[in-house]
Amino acid sequence: MINSKTKLCCIIGNPVEHSLSPQMHNAAYEYLHLNYAFLAFRVTDVKSALVGLKTLGVKAISVTIPHKLEIMKYLDKIDEVATKIGAVNTIINNNGKLFGTNTDWIGALTALEEKTTLSGKKVALLGSGGAARSVAYGLIQRKAHVFVFNRTIDKAIKLKQEFDLNGASAFTDLSSISTMDIIVNTTSVGMIPDIDKSPIPLQIINSKQIVFDIVYTPNDTKLIQYAKEKKAGIVYGHKMLLYGVAKQFELFTGKEAPLDIMKNILITNLRSHGQPLLG
Ligand code: ATR
Repeated sequence: MINSKTKLCCIIGNPVEHSLSPQMHNAAYEYLHLNYAFLAFRVTDVKSALVGLKTLGVKAISVTIPHKLEIMKYLDKIDEVATKIGAVNTIINNNGKLFGTNTDWIGALTALEEKTTLSGKKVALLGSGGAARSVAYGLIQRKAHVFVFNRTIDKAIKLKQEFDLNGASAFTDLSSISTMDIIVNTTSVGMIPDIDKSPIPLQIINSKQIVFDIVYTPNDTKLIQYAKEKKAGIVYGHKMLLYGVAKQFELFTGKEAPLDIMKNILITNLRSHGQPLLG
């Protein structure tokens, strides 16, 4: 029951109406009988929002699009991981001091490591945006060999240099992907409404590969369908979301996340929605 001792956590973003975090966190609080509550706030003025949230003693904040970069300016401390990735998706209010970190990379890494080991594996990383940075960070922690592919080659080259990756290519030069162990799509290609598009053609996928598409609306993207057709291993995008939110839950509460409870909420919502959803 909500009372004067309830700890408030929230997500800020714009838009934020399609976020699944309130349902996932609140269901987990209820399951574990924690006196916590989680709300979503649509925020345009990040600086003022943070002042307000801090003043009210909000316990923790999840940050989503488009604020993950801008918010870094207003925090008291940012850890090494979020600094390297260049984005904060999680803020903890430590007695009035705001501490920023990032759990996106843990979500991606946990999802992949459910299926395969990563050390020494050749990974084709499709895309060079914010999501690619989180995935690249996790992969290099595990000593995978990462080859980045991007529509805009300059961004791929920049990412390669910054993260000391093994290769950078344009999207017109995809043939080497057939020699890789793992393919990770971090581009938005295939997301609703463009559900008939895949970032790579069917021909370069084979049964020895693992294909991870971080797009989760729809759950079975064209790329995942291709991977199934070629009998490759698959990792669904919703797993990255689940494990990233679970890690946030643990940072917010100090308790282990009830994964099944959170996963049920996620899967139920993914089935019933025809539009992109957020974590
Ligand atoms: P996010 O934070 O979700 O990673 P982002 O930073 O906007 O979002 O990055 C989107 C990524 O998807 C980029 O790598 C982008 O390629 P460009 O750098 O060339 O823009 C890629 N992307 C988006 N639409 C694409 C398309 N139609 N074909 C290929 N790549 C696309």
